[in-house]
Amino acid sequence: MRVLVIGSGAREHALVLAAAEDPAVTALACAPGNAGTAAVSEQLGVDAVDPDSVTKLAVGWKADLVVVGPEVPLVAGVADAVRAANIACFGPSAAAARIEGSKAFAKDVMAKANVPTAHAEVVDNPAHLDAALARFGPTWVVKDDGLAAGKGVVVTTDFDVARKHALMLLDGGHPVLLETFLDGPEASLFCFVDGHTVVPLLPAQDFKRVGDGDAGPNTGGMGAYAPLPWTPKGFVKEVVAKVIQPVVDELVARDSSFSGLLYAGLILTADGPQVIEFNCRFGDPETQVVLALLRTPLAGLLYATATGTLAKHPPLEWDQGSAVTVVIAADGYPGKPHTGDVIAGGEAEGVLHAGTRRRDDGAIVSSGGRVLSVVGVGDTLKAARKQAYARVEKVHLAGSHHRTDIAQRAARGEIATPVAK
Ligand code: AMP
Ligand code: GLY
Repeated sequence: MRVLVIGSGAREHALVLAAAEDPAVTALACAPGNAGTAAVSEQLGVDAVDPDSVTKLAVGWKADLVVVGPEVPLVAGVADAVRAANIACFGPSAAAARIEGSKAFAKDVMAKANVPTAHAEVVDNPAHLDAALARFGPTWVVKDDGLAAGKGVVVTTDFDVARKHALMLLDGGHPVLLETFLDGPEASLFCFVDGHTVVPLLPAQDFKRVGDGDAGPNTGGMGAYAPLPWTPKGFVKEVVAKVIQPVVDELVARDSSFSGLLYAGLILTADGPQVIEFNCRFGDPETQVVLALLRTPLAGLLYATATGTLAKHPPLEWDQGSAVTVVIAADGYPGKPHTGDVIAGGEAEGVLHAGTRRRDDGAIVSSGGRVLSVVGVGDTLKAARKQAYARVEKVHLAGSHHRTDIAQRAARGEIATPVAK
């Protein structure tokens, strides 16, 4: 099987590494990729968000399977175009990708499917903002109703901060979504979905804030771990039954059936798991830890998803231990990152690349905000943390920063879901 992965983050590096280990894979390419993916796969140029560009590349390279990593190409219809050229594609149609691309669409689907989620209101007129804010908060949750790479959300107890963020979004022509604040620990659950059949992966937790102790602004994700030792028994089954399957069925009913990876971002409240968002693709950085533990050959699984044959696929097999990833970010991130700095130790084991490129002189340099995602595994969460942080210590990038508390509270047994009042 000739497999072409589209994207250039650490998620794609993890996908390429896992696919490379699948004996069914005869050729592997990544476009546009980064310095890390270039070490394990053929590197090809593409305009990843342009359906024609991706399709031409896939046809020319004779791909048997195209795997689309990021959401923007999916929302733009890349998977539709690839499939129209008779090539299997892992990733939903543009119609189904609206589950991530439009928060209002996702809310509408959830309401129809009876899926537990925060109450929300869309505000598109600044004149209605103050009255709407008065119906929420404190705490206020203010979101951009569109793709914002995890950075369009402000959660605050300060009315003025909430109002200012909403006005900034409205000024930019973006409708604003106000939501009820949900209290509890977060979990990400990824599921393979081939239109009808749902196969869940291990649950993971992402760390969205830039600083230790969840301080500072939201980012694309600063670290993750899997599995989650603190989730209640039957958690995955419950989420599949109450959240994923009803949404999958509702999308079929709307003639927008979902094929690819459906990712539920959840908060485990006292009233049970509630959805904060859906994504239409693998999450980053959770993919780096989930795939580190997956034993089942990945490419076959992605192909079964893309071709509607998941029901016939054998059950997934997992390593028994835990995995932790720590993101090393460039100076300035999540604001404008400093780029072009030389990375030392970037080719060591467990070091996945995101914003990196190889300079003409052979040096690996930073080229984005999230630069590396360093993965450690171990029999316990504590051991996996230890390995991840030992590996982080061996990497050097001037001015970089990372969180030092990824998976710490979980490893200490300090996370619990709130108890119903
Ligand atoms: P989102 O982009 O919708 O995933 O939101 C980014 C982050 O904001 C989430 O990971 C949560 O930490 C937080 N968040 C979003 N919605 C809510 C909510 N309704 N209640 C509490 N926290 C939220
Ligand atoms: N881990 C967050 C995301 O991929 O959106």
